[in-house]
Amino acid sequence: MNTTQINQELFTFIQNSPSPYHAVASAASMLESHGFQPLREQDAWALEYGGRYYVTRNQSSLAAFCLPEAAHAGNPSFHIIASHSDSPSFKLKENGEMTVENRYTRLNVERYGGSILAPWFDRPLSLAGRVLTEENGHIESRLVNLDQDLAMIVNLAIHMNRGINDGYKYSIQTDMLPLIGGCQPPVSVRAMAASSLNLAESAILTMDLFLYNRMEGRIWGASREFIGAPRLDDLQCAFASFRAISGQVHPDLIPMAVMFDNEEVGSQSRQGACSTFLKDVMRRISLSLNLTEEGYLRALSRSFMVSADNGHALHPNYPAKSDPGNHPYLNGGVMIKYAANQKYTSDGISSAIFRAICRQEQIPTQVFFNHSDVPGGSTLGNLSASQISIPSVDIGAPLLGMHSPYETGGAEDTLSLVAAMEAFLKTRIEYEGEQSFRLLPMEKSR
Ligand code: CO
Repeated sequence: MNTTQINQELFTFIQNSPSPYHAVASAASMLESHGFQPLREQDAWALEYGGRYYVTRNQSSLAAFCLPEAAHAGNPSFHIIASHSDSPSFKLKENGEMTVENRYTRLNVERYGGSILAPWFDRPLSLAGRVLTEENGHIESRLVNLDQDLAMIVNLAIHMNRGINDGYKYSIQTDMLPLIGGCQPPVSVRAMAASSLNLAESAILTMDLFLYNRMEGRIWGASREFIGAPRLDDLQCAFASFRAISGQVHPDLIPMAVMFDNEEVGSQSRQGACSTFLKDVMRRISLSLNLTEEGYLRALSRSFMVSADNGHALHPNYPAKSDPGNHPYLNGGVMIKYAANQKYTSDGISSAIFRAICRQEQIPTQVFFNHSDVPGGSTLGNLSASQISIPSVDIGAPLLGMHSPYETGGAEDTLSLVAAMEAFLKTRIEYEGEQSFRLLPMEKSR
């Protein structure tokens, strides 16, 4: 797999994932083509040794896992890669069409997550998400992508806002409402959604629709060294995790790739990283392996999580914003993120283990610390740890312009990310005690 191929594959995944619900559907189809079977939380699970499975919650979070063969199931440990399905966007409010002087129709939207607002202007946007329909006594949630150049958040001319380049403060309720059409015929998003599903408009009960940027992913730069795409945070990590778990994994491990929704709004939802989703799936796996409570707790103590969320490269125009000594570069490899306040979970032990795994495969890694005067973000690992306490490291690919609707990354870093995740799922970590570990890569394990 070369750089161009892997990035084209990534762009296709992103293109097919304009909303968190679509990201879950894209992941599911990728997994199913590699033999993973869907499970439902409502059903009793009859899992088989050697089986590959995935389960979703709220259509927007997904957990995939593989069970070892019976002969390898005696001493299980979980190797988990966590990522997130959501990206900053705007959510359509109910009764969202607002007309102006009977000439224009705008959409009433609210902010989802912390976007950089300015780059959302003057580019073709569309709407995607899910609609809840009622037909023949069934309420059903169906994916919708109004896959056309449909709306635009239009700037005010500089002649009418001379201060636009002097640090303008945007109002979400005034500045960020996209223009979607005229008034004759009247615009109805509900009607468009219904027609895309071949349904009567009256069949739609509610809608969860988000704006998305229509621009496709591209490889660019003088030597094609960069990538640009919407939602690289965090679909680049999610894509890499599902690719890794679809390949060869260590026979003694229970590898998991879990993609949570709602990271961009604090993870406090039924399906977010603060929820019981991952814990519930892990408990059910351990029940199906007939582990006792102690057996489950012992498995946890042997387990490891890679919390995978993209981070910040040194910006060429703003080098002073980065830590003076530890600032990743695009194409410098997988970044390991540290924060003394534990917003990132990496510590000496967990990052030593992860670095050793990467080193054995010659996968480049680099280190990220926040500039001490620039508070950084939070991510999945420390939140998930409030539910399941296992050793964890925070990693990701370096980005520029994070939370822009079009983010910039390094073309080589997609490969490094996939390779690091593959290596992690092919390596068993033997805990010889609190402070001693041995890596058992697949070839040498038995
Ligand atoms: Co993120």
